[in-house]
Amino acid sequence: MRRIGILTGGGDAPGLNGVIRAVVLAANHRGDVEVVGIRDGFGGFAEGDEGVVVLDRRDVRGTVLRGGSILGCNNSYRGKTSFFLERVREIGLDGLIVCGGDGSLTMAQEMVEAGGRVVGVPKTIDNDVAGTDQTFGFDTAATLVADMCVRLIDTAESHHRVMLVEVMGRHAGHIALHGALAGAADVALVPEIPYHLDAIVAAINRRAERGRTYTLIVTAEGARRAGDDPIRDEHRTKLAGREVLGGIAATLANELRGRIRHEVRSIQLSHLQRGGAPTVFDRVLGTRMGVAALNAAADGASGVFTALRTGRVELVPLTEAAGKRRTLDPDGDLVATARAIGLALGD
Ligand code: F6P
Repeated sequence: MRRIGILTGGGDAPGLNGVIRAVVLAANHRGDVEVVGIRDGFGGFAEGDEGVVVLDRRDVRGTVLRGGSILGCNNSYRGKTSFFLERVREIGLDGLIVCGGDGSLTMAQEMVEAGGRVVGVPKTIDNDVAGTDQTFGFDTAATLVADMCVRLIDTAESHHRVMLVEVMGRHAGHIALHGALAGAADVALVPEIPYHLDAIVAAINRRAERGRTYTLIVTAEGARRAGDDPIRDEHRTKLAGREVLGGIAATLANELRGRIRHEVRSIQLSHLQRGGAPTVFDRVLGTRMGVAALNAAADGASGVFTALRTGRVELVPLTEAAGKRRTLDPDGDLVATARAIGLALGD
């Protein structure tokens, strides 16, 4: 019987439970693998027996429907490769499945370089992992953003207001642009295309000339004014010990007040985007990736991660994701589509 470990590193993303469930069910179906869950990301390695749990099918019953991670998540892990490998040996793991974003997949690659046997599963609502066409969690987050846009339009239109909604995504604009396109927003600000205040004011005024008395602006948390850096949430950055972005919607609302005749309101969707039941797409993608990762790890593969490429889940080298980031292509089809239907991008 082989022993394969699984952990969920970084921030949670809808679809993670689908991965864990698929790993456990596929192992059970094969009959030659025992699955061991590591609690709280890489943090579970430091918690002795408490941090480790053998998982069977009863533990994952019904979990494909649930957001979050039944194992818990943790963002802290840097610089402890040798300790993690020592724990892997003590726990008796023949392989480890690391579900994570760029940080956790970089850690996974470091473990591989130090002699560990690791298979990665790309996870993040931000959709910014290089080497895969999409990560699970993104579809759920973008769907939530689009749904919230529709609600905000109702109230913005009734009160003839300009509404700004700030969404997550770190330095990538995938959530903002998909949410804005699907939610019928009027302006989308993304990190990859620095904005000019005059261009936003002009977009609002153009709408007013056409008799549209409200404007909905979706801004990525990483959006930035041309020549400026993105705005950091200093409090959360200090607490987390890493850069946490946030505050652009409130800042931009203040900058717009006085320059336009509308009332301006701003909100941050924040962690609402990370919770909730995964969409069908994310449940299925998580399940596919879980099965692929379990089979790869059980058959002795290492140094690879499960990537979605033109509709197929494939194993590709971890080096394609580690230390890299996939952002929006400002000259790509999605941005061109947005421009073609008159979605203002602030440039
Ligand atoms: O990477 C996922 C993400 O939700 C980002 O979009 C966001 O910037 C960050 O995590 C927030 O981190 P935390 O939950 O630690 O505040």
